[in-house]
Amino acid sequence: MRFSVILLSLAASALAVPAAQSPDLSSYALTRRADPSLTGYLGVFFLGDKPSVYFYLSNGNNAISFKSLNKGSPVINPTQGTQGVRDPSIIAGGGNEAGRKWYIIGTDLNIGRTNWDAAQRTGSRGIFVWESTDLINWTGERLVQVEDTTAGMVWAPSAIWDEAKGQYLVHWASKFYPASDSQHKGSPSAIRIRYTYTKDFRTFEAPQDYINKSPTNIIDLDILPLGNNAYARFMKDETAKTVFTEVSTNGLFGTWTRPAGASAIIASGVEGPAVYWDNQVAGKAHLLLDFYGSDGYRPYESTDVTSGRWTASDRSGFPKNLRHGSVLPINATLLAAVSNKWA
Ligand SMILES: *[C@@H]1O[C@H](CO)[C@@H](O)[C@H](O)[C@H]1NC(C)=O
Ligand SMILES: *[C@@H]1O[C@H](CO)[C@@H](O)[C@H](O)[C@H]1NC(C)=O
Repeated sequence: MRFSVILLSLAASALAVPAAQSPDLSSYALTRRADPSLTGYLGVFFLGDKPSVYFYLSNGNNAISFKSLNKGSPVINPTQGTQGVRDPSIIAGGGNEAGRKWYIIGTDLNIGRTNWDAAQRTGSRGIFVWESTDLINWTGERLVQVEDTTAGMVWAPSAIWDEAKGQYLVHWASKFYPASDSQHKGSPSAIRIRYTYTKDFRTFEAPQDYINKSPTNIIDLDILPLGNNAYARFMKDETAKTVFTEVSTNGLFGTWTRPAGASAIIASGVEGPAVYWDNQVAGKAHLLLDFYGSDGYRPYESTDVTSGRWTASDRSGFPKNLRHGSVLPINATLLAAVSNKWA
């Protein structure tokens, strides 16, 4: 395996602890509006047993109807690490990269060359990164090591631009072995969500815990900004094999609650939640849930994200066997460029 150099900041950055404040969701006004400049959606996924990045484009401005691009062939094939990528996540640039830069990051895992036990004990501790200035030309492939040798694996990285910090918050799932168990043959910690910050997906601060619900295993985090410093997040309980949601009205490090009840779930037997706003209907969001034992992603929707209530959408336009990925709303210029290149 070949890893890019990692520069870990040795000074642990202080985790800001906001004043305890219980969220009052009833008085929270959802400010998210429809955006008439957004005319389509670009989806990036891996397929069934094929660990490459496949692109899909919405049919018109329909958030839950997609067609494959590039005649169904991958757009990105990794050349480093295990030479397999799962869980691709497409990240829109923020700050001075807004509208000028996009990243795709993903898990370094080719399960055809290993098995699920080994993949979690001595799996890759890096994340794949590609970048683009036009959504067409994807360059700069790198495998950036983000955890030290006590980690068993790094799974399902994703990221969100943190306006307050002026950097990308990157997160993923890892479990850890005691330093004395260098072969990772014993019992690990529960799987928890880790995070760090980066400006460029090249150098990362030292990672810290973001979500630790030990002894419950948590993987596959995705975050939806709601406006006004509020967020909804979605994750898989890898112990119960369910996906659930939490909401914070006081920031990414605020107080998170499960709005539909302490043990409320959205669905079971699913993973890889991928969430995005509807371009046309104010306050409506879409959530893809990967039925990993069946036919992959199925769309769900909500017009009240803060309620935690989601219902299954019409699946007639949604392709089968798309696996854990993500969806990016795009405007007419980008849609035309992607369509001209691959449709
Ligand atoms: C779409 O976004 C791109 C990238 O930010 C920008 O260059 C272009 O002008 C936008 N097009 C429209 C129609 O808004
Ligand atoms: C793709 O991007 C790379 C890096 O920015 C650049 O060197 C190359 O010329 C680009 N290729 C095309 C076809 O635009």
